[in-house]
Amino acid sequence: MLKGKNILLGITGGIAAYKAAELVRMFVAREASVKAVMTANAEYFITPVTLETLTGNRVYSDTFKPTGERDIAHIGLAKWADMTVIAPATANIVGKIAAGIADDLLSTIMVTMKTPVLICPAMNTDMYSNPIFQNNLEKLSKGGFHILDAASGELACGTEGPGRLPPLEDIVEAAETVLTKKDLQGTRVLVTAGPTQEPLDPVRYITNHSSGKMGYALALKAKRRGAEVTLVSGPVSIPEPTGVRLVKVTTAVDMKEAVMECLEESQVVIKAAAVADYRPGRLSKSKIKKTAKPLTLSLERNPDIIAEVGIRKGNRIVVGFALETDDLMENALKKLTSKKMDLIIANDLGEPGAGFRHDTNVVKILDVDGGVETLPMMDKGDVADRILDRVVGLLNKYRKP
Ligand code: PMT
Repeated sequence: MLKGKNILLGITGGIAAYKAAELVRMFVAREASVKAVMTANAEYFITPVTLETLTGNRVYSDTFKPTGERDIAHIGLAKWADMTVIAPATANIVGKIAAGIADDLLSTIMVTMKTPVLICPAMNTDMYSNPIFQNNLEKLSKGGFHILDAASGELACGTEGPGRLPPLEDIVEAAETVLTKKDLQGTRVLVTAGPTQEPLDPVRYITNHSSGKMGYALALKAKRRGAEVTLVSGPVSIPEPTGVRLVKVTTAVDMKEAVMECLEESQVVIKAAAVADYRPGRLSKSKIKKTAKPLTLSLERNPDIIAEVGIRKGNRIVVGFALETDDLMENALKKLTSKKMDLIIANDLGEPGAGFRHDTNVVKILDVDGGVETLPMMDKGDVADRILDRVVGLLNKYRKP
């Protein structure tokens, strides 16, 4: 979403201003163009040369200095920007924007700006909790500005509490979310992801190779598109997506319980998890000791969660996955119809770049009308968007009077 976008980065005079350099790098790495506007006080904390070098653009700070460009600075920059990120935002800039004061370049641009603005406050805890500042922040929020709450922790002034600039990854994610079209606004989406672990004894379990990447990408993309997302996840070791309700589970039985608890409120259910079909019939309380004899394990069937969701489908959109090593289309089609899904995403374990662990996937989207959409190898985030496009299409179809 940030690719090809013009981001105006406003930097104001707080100690966290030094982090703006890394923030620029992160935006540029996502192929966004960045122009920096600094307040006079920001220059105490970071030099324009640093920002000019990293953005590859001149740095703006003076309302009246001729830029050599056709438009005067505050008008030209406001027209250029697809969005503005002010990080760090001091109490001063927040107060000025809230009051409509335009006495330097950044505050003047804010009076002119028509595209989205993301404010990332950072300051001392007492300043952050000051009611006048909080009222100003609320005023901005009501006025359509996007606010990313400050993080809590150790502050440069030696105190501890809320006031830290949020992690830069969270700022980039918030910018992505702001720029994403909200075609799932007001929709509750339940996503499952990752493997399940079925314990055999206190040290061993049966599982599979799912990393959770496909399901986490779906949860993140649905959140960016405005959905309220619950992510029921088996044990994985990838970062938790922000802005998503995460429910951690271990076994298929736990996953079923969590899914059924959220089912009532969900309009869309997407089951990307790789659920173990079987679990050990007996859970040993102590470690099973090896002997000279072979060990035979007896396995019991786990609940088929998506089949149970299918039984209570109502007018929900249900999307399943099929991971196959043989007869991909035939098996996927069988699951689509027998489990009352609307769509099934078929991925073939034998295909390079598809299935477990990769950052990419290669999928076919099958629907109940017999349609098959074949997608090339794509990043799992892009696959997630293509699946969500189909979900939006179905929601619009069913919502039509
Ligand atoms: O996590 P990654 O490393 O990114 O890998 C992604 C993935 C390969 C796990 C994902 O793309 C995928 O294919 N997930 C489903 C894998 C799978 O278990 O397929 P299946 O054909 O066995 O199951 C069919 C459907 O029934 C799935 O939606 C599954 O979530 C669901 N199911 C299966 C068994 C069961 N007991 N309950 C279920 O709900």
